Amino acid sequence: MCGIVGYIGNKDVKEILLSGLDTLEYRGYDSAGIYITDEANQGHLFKEKGRIAALRDKVDNSINAFSGIGHTRWATHGVPSVENAHPHQSTSGRFTIVHNGVIENFEEVKDAYLPDVHFHSTTDTEVIVQLIAWFVESEELDTIDAFKKAIVTLKGSYALALVDNENPNTLYAAKNKSPLLLGTGEGFNVISSDAMAMVRETDQFIELMDGEVATLTKDSIKIEDLAGETIERDSYTAHIDANDLGKGTYPYYMIKEIDEQPAVMRKLIQQYQNENGDLEINESVLSEIKESDRVYIIACGTSYNAGWVGKQLIERITGTPTEVHLASEFAYNTPLLTKKPFFIFLSQSGETADSRQVLVQVNKAGYPSLTLTNVPGSTLSREAKHTLLLHAGPEIAVASTKAYTAQIAVLAILAECVAKYNGVDSPLDVAHELGIIANAIETVIDDHEIFERLSVTHLSTSKNAFYIGRGIDYYVVMEAALKLKEVSYVQAEGWASGELKHGTIALIEDNTPVISIITDKVSGPHTRGNAHEVISRGANSMIISMEGLDRQEDAYVLPKVHDLLTPLISVIPTQLIAYYTALHRGNDVDKPRNLAKSVTVE
Ligand code: F6R
Repeated sequence: MCGIVGYIGNKDVKEILLSGLDTLEYRGYDSAGIYITDEANQGHLFKEKGRIAALRDKVDNSINAFSGIGHTRWATHGVPSVENAHPHQSTSGRFTIVHNGVIENFEEVKDAYLPDVHFHSTTDTEVIVQLIAWFVESEELDTIDAFKKAIVTLKGSYALALVDNENPNTLYAAKNKSPLLLGTGEGFNVISSDAMAMVRETDQFIELMDGEVATLTKDSIKIEDLAGETIERDSYTAHIDANDLGKGTYPYYMIKEIDEQPAVMRKLIQQYQNENGDLEINESVLSEIKESDRVYIIACGTSYNAGWVGKQLIERITGTPTEVHLASEFAYNTPLLTKKPFFIFLSQSGETADSRQVLVQVNKAGYPSLTLTNVPGSTLSREAKHTLLLHAGPEIAVASTKAYTAQIAVLAILAECVAKYNGVDSPLDVAHELGIIANAIETVIDDHEIFERLSVTHLSTSKNAFYIGRGIDYYVVMEAALKLKEVSYVQAEGWASGELKHGTIALIEDNTPVISIITDKVSGPHTRGNAHEVISRGANSMIISMEGLDRQEDAYVLPKVHDLLTPLISVIPTQLIAYYTALHRGNDVDKPRNLAKSVTVE
């Protein structure tokens, strides 16, 4: 969470920092700030509670500044407020810092080094900048050594950008666990939590690694380790189209990204097909899965929900036993592993701290791993042995939609390739079926007005709601409920419909919305029975079924697709319902309260 940017160069920095922060707002939007240095080497600090738009209004446009740092915050320590907004400054005002991450030992450091320092905020971050100032003032270290010494003293996760106002033509950066990139250009250099935020300036980026410190001027970047050893690293080209970052004519990113799903399905077929039209995945991934006795899928949130569909696909298509685990639980509640596990990390952002800490353990134990991510070069991608990309294009709305369907599609492609490699007959032709699905998603999206109407009649004024389903539909209702609650704030639960009568049915009263998903021919009739049980108790029922299993009473009938891939189509109405419910409740659809897209703290 939190996003940081920095720029030093020839252009006026204000707009570069502000539009970089606009792009990073998905990482948090409780407060924001920038620190800029003008032509007379005078520093100016602007901070505001709330969104970047509020900060933009506060910035003095008459200042010409050519270097600066900026931050958008997702609060961990300290409430969202102007005082707690970054950048933070040392008491003398000499040092200014922005930070993404969490300093775990900030209280101990305060007690040990800074008992007499007056703190201006209740954040863990301020301790970093005060400590740097303390090392400079008390131990007479120069800035880079004080910065390094502070880093060695602090425990936790951080991506940092630092300014010393006695030498404002230099920016300093460092990282541990939190992502940070350095961007390079003619006469300027940048710092950014991700490439998207600075892609309007450059497409050339250098990865900064844990335990490294960078010194940037407008013409140079020096990377060194904590022992002072210089590190040479080439830049890479970030293939991001700056046009993909806009909403175009859409009112919100979420609806744009829902609409993009047919195109993503088609792109995935292309990306994973070889010249003969066969699906193809790197042989070493396939042979490692073949050698393993169990696949462990590790993920959080929506990616975790996609993982359950993935389990079904891998088990049914390849016959390999597969488990799905919440990353945040796995590290503390590690299950007994089999002798030859293979780990798959599902992460849209590739930065989720909970997943990364599991990957660190997996790497330590020497187990093979694969990350499925939408972000090339992301931390999980770099640190796992293998990567498969989701090719969904930047997902900017906080609520994940196209990455969920892309994850399932890539898992299906993987499963088919593993089956072929193992000499097992696949029960489906995934490329062909994904083509059918792309068309089917278009049909459902064309019917968006139906879902808007259903959202208004069933959900826009209710406090709670239930999604129910069995088998593969159960996995989809888990995701449907998550999507609804995160953007509309309707308290929603996704239940295995057979479980309702074991307790949850007590919550059903007159007009409680209950949405049933029925795409599975074996369990479908039972879910329909469960829907009738809640209708008898006054529920406001909405049944979404698949062609062939439909009845007169159904609110919507989905086009028929392959039994194993129904989540790719049944999830679409639930995404649209979440979107329209949030819209009609007047919520900020793309930036729901309390959330951030990239969850880089555990
Ligand atoms: C919900 C959502 C989150 C993420 C979760 C994991 O719409 O987006 O639940 O799925 O935070 O994020 P990634 O996939 O980036 O690891």
